[in-house]
Amino acid sequence: MEDFDFHVTTDIRFGKERLDELPQVLNTFGKNVLLVYGGGSIKKSGLYDKLYEQFQQNDNNVIELAGVDPNPRIETVQKGVQLCKKNEIDVVLPVGGGSVIDCSKAIAAGVFVSGDLWENFVLPKNYKGPALPIVTVLTLAATGSEMNGTCVISNMDAQIKLGVHGQSLLPKVSFLDPTNTFSVSPYQTAAGSADILSHLIENYFNATPGTEVQDEIAEGLMKTVIKYLPVALEKPDNYTARANLMWASTLALNGLVGNGKKGSWSCHAMEHELSAFYDITHGVGLSIIIPRWMEHILDENTIPKFQRFAQEIWGIKEEEPKRAAELGIQKFYEFLASCGIPMTLPEAGIQTEENLEEMANRAVAHSSISTQGFVPLQEDDVASIYRACMTETSFA
Ligand code: NZQ
Ligand code: ZN
Repeated sequence: MEDFDFHVTTDIRFGKERLDELPQVLNTFGKNVLLVYGGGSIKKSGLYDKLYEQFQQNDNNVIELAGVDPNPRIETVQKGVQLCKKNEIDVVLPVGGGSVIDCSKAIAAGVFVSGDLWENFVLPKNYKGPALPIVTVLTLAATGSEMNGTCVISNMDAQIKLGVHGQSLLPKVSFLDPTNTFSVSPYQTAAGSADILSHLIENYFNATPGTEVQDEIAEGLMKTVIKYLPVALEKPDNYTARANLMWASTLALNGLVGNGKKGSWSCHAMEHELSAFYDITHGVGLSIIIPRWMEHILDENTIPKFQRFAQEIWGIKEEEPKRAAELGIQKFYEFLASCGIPMTLPEAGIQTEENLEEMANRAVAHSSISTQGFVPLQEDDVASIYRACMTETSFA
């Protein structure tokens, strides 16, 4: 296991009816609030009205930034920064999924960044400056943004999507009420859960030796998601299912499973190019890529970990290691498909191979997968993985 710091200071308020605590939380930071939300799901669900009940009782001055897109754009961040400066905002309050929270993190930091935000905040990828306090109300179990210091921002003109990390981007407080996810569509529920699984898988398939604690925790969280995703799809208002998915999303990417391991994430690097070129749903892109990536890197060195994945996660009894590994990948693929996720690029709306080579070049250029991946990947490897995503496959 590698050395690490684990300093994740987000105050989690988990459970039903916790919004009553919002005024007291906001007052710690000040009265002027930037409320950030997406395309209107919080209005449909009634959450918006509940927030305003709290704001009114508390005499908050609320400025709104609405309409944050999935795969949030740098232009929206710029708009938010202007609003913060003009209205002397004390605290940024994203209410939504990962996109709304990520956009808010970039806004909170952007207030302190001089010059061009893309050049001076996103491209450097590591942010060491200050940020306005961030308080989140999570409405979709997926990214873990509610308890980590990462935000992922897109520049659609340049077709680039990049993650930025910084300790000051960590939310101060996050409200995790599973009932706020009852209204998430089956498609987004499945995509979000696939994203949770992907975070666990990216950490699990890692070459750092001696990380049994992290691997056992990852296995427990994977099994939890696999157990409760079908329940949430069947009964969207099943509290136990939503609560377990929500807490799994938070724990999958708050450092608990990833700290102590070195190396870079291969599938996210490949997915971010898909989103940057085609604006597809993050969890769907990952679902398509991961099984093909697994198949591509399966060799005598990686088989033992894949055999463990097959046995521990999917209950595969097969004793021949390579066969067991392949059966595990097949089961994973079938599970995702059974949850209604499109499992090829054409099904996700990407009909041609014209950009695959360029995306492969950029996936390598924008990350360290060619040197730091679980199995290092060069442009040819990535292009071949993308091409395999064009058609249905059997892995066993
Ligand atoms: O915009 P609204 O109307 O709110 O609708 C959203 C959106 O259309 C909807 N939704 C959210 N909560 C809902 C709901 N619909 C009904 N009821 C609710 N309660 O779901 C749609 C998708 O929302 P989005 O926020 O885009 O999803 P997600 O949470 O999956 O976030 C994806 C973004 O996060 C980035 C991804 O790359 C992508 O840009 N990631 C962020 C990470 C991080 N900060 O650590 C790590 C991840 O790996 C990921 O890269
Ligand atoms: Zn992800």
